[in-house]
Amino acid sequence: MDAVANYSEKGGVGKTSNSAGMVAMAAEQGLNVLAIDFDPRATLTAELGVKDPRFTLNDLLYIDPEADTPPGDPAEFIHDAIVRAGEGWPSNVWVLPSERPLGRRESDSAMFETRVRRALQGLEGEIDLAVMDVPPRAGGKLATCALIAAKKVFIPATLTTDGQLGAEQALKTIQFVSSPGSGMNEDLVLAGLVRSILPKKDDMRAVNHFVNERLVETFGDAVIDDLTIEQAGHYSGIVSYSVREECRLACVPITAAPGREAKKLQGWYGELLDHAITRKGA
Ligand SMILES: Nc1ncnc2c1ncn2[C@@H]1O[C@H](COP(=O)(O)OP(=O)(O)OP(=O)(O)O)[C@@H](O)[C@H]1O
Ligand SMILES: [Mg+2]
Repeated sequence: MDAVANYSEKGGVGKTSNSAGMVAMAAEQGLNVLAIDFDPRATLTAELGVKDPRFTLNDLLYIDPEADTPPGDPAEFIHDAIVRAGEGWPSNVWVLPSERPLGRRESDSAMFETRVRRALQGLEGEIDLAVMDVPPRAGGKLATCALIAAKKVFIPATLTTDGQLGAEQALKTIQFVSSPGSGMNEDLVLAGLVRSILPKKDDMRAVNHFVNERLVETFGDAVIDDLTIEQAGHYSGIVSYSVREECRLACVPITAAPGREAKKLQGWYGELLDHAITRKGA
């Protein structure tokens, strides 16, 4: 199973949008895909059309400090906790939903950080790709839990000072989690820095170009450049198109949207998917 996280330590940079886009493209290619929503605001859960789930990620992570018996095995519990996405989505999309109380886990002293990694072991052979949407809290326990479960991680960044700072801080956290001796996830790979929610070409300002240069300086070859897809400036990235917001509101995948702009976003999310998965026989 491939497992990919979208992570930045700043909000509003495209983590959830890129997660939903990758899920849509993976489903279109016939993969069994699981979206895991680590954000207590549950925006991805809502977009995937999941309402009032019986169990959520919060239940999977919770360890009762008073219990006399050891906590249950997440590799078993995961089968009860995942649900199919709502009716707007293909039937090969599954969701491990979020809910507001998941936020309590950030201050929970229990050692739950390896539980999603273990849960995914229980889905080996059933799910081809897990896509994790991670909240932007710096050094948070939920983010650590996702980064331990992930094999690859994308950092989305807007071409703003906040986008840049969030990306640089995310990189430090990723380096820490994957450092030899951290005991967390030595195999974690940076799949790439994804320029996201870019202004259209004519709206690109000097400040955007300035931030872009800083990002290229820090991330070098890890910046994902697909020159076959129309560029926003003199480099490529995911441009801001209102069809993205329309899909989110309608709780449907980008693959269900008509028009040129939807096609461009599909191209980009497909490009991310290519970086995320290991093709059979490759
Ligand atoms: N390519 C795009 N075109 C237009 N709007 C976009 C695009 N990508 C994201 N957005 C919009 O920008 C806003 C922020 O994006 P998103 O929610 O994906 O960011 P996030 O990093 O998950 O934010 P948060 O940290 O708050 O969870 C949302 O309203 C989203 O719909
Ligand atoms: Mg989000």
